Amino acid sequence: MYKPEAMEENKKVFLDLLKSVDRKGIDSLIDYLETKTDFYTAPASTKYHNNCIGGLLAHTLNVYESFKKLLDMRGIELSEESVIVIALLHDICKCNYYVLEQRNRKINGKWEQVDVWSNTKTVSPPLPHSYRSIRMIQSFLRLTPQEELCIYYHMGPYGGEDYEYRGLLQKVNTDYPETLLFYTADLLSTYLDEQTYE
Ligand SMILES: [Fe+2]
Ligand SMILES: [Fe+2]
Repeated sequence: MYKPEAMEENKKVFLDLLKSVDRKGIDSLIDYLETKTDFYTAPASTKYHNNCIGGLLAHTLNVYESFKKLLDMRGIELSEESVIVIALLHDICKCNYYVLEQRNRKINGKWEQVDVWSNTKTVSPPLPHSYRSIRMIQSFLRLTPQEELCIYYHMGPYGGEDYEYRGLLQKVNTDYPETLLFYTADLLSTYLDEQTYE
């Protein structure tokens, strides 16, 4: 049911990119991902996109590719290091978050046990996922203001509904167009590159 998507190859690509980042703390972060998390096998969501083993890893690489293309297309300069940090780590808070559970489901009139992803664990701290990712990354390395903005606003209009958020989003997307492109890259990957697994 849940097929790993070229996980070993994806992991190698991911690590090669991350190891090219010349920043204090990157080695500790890589070690943390390997030894303390399920990052490389985790799904990207419970049922929306890449809800498969290795889905989160594949998602981050899809977003990386889309983000690079969009920056190129619009002639917006952003260092390769920042592109890597933003794209590969924007959803890092989703590690150690999903669990596979068995549920009963009626299939062709017969009850069967199926595997489903669940995220019923308590979110800690109770903050939006983009901000939880920032906190996790910053516990290992420093982000530039641009990187922080791209990750914080990567849900675009879906990241908040209040008046202040909407106003800030509009200003940030105008003043820092890379934030708009990163939101678009996340959206394109989710809807066009990835799928839902039944
Ligand atoms: Fe996200
Ligand atoms: Fe994402």
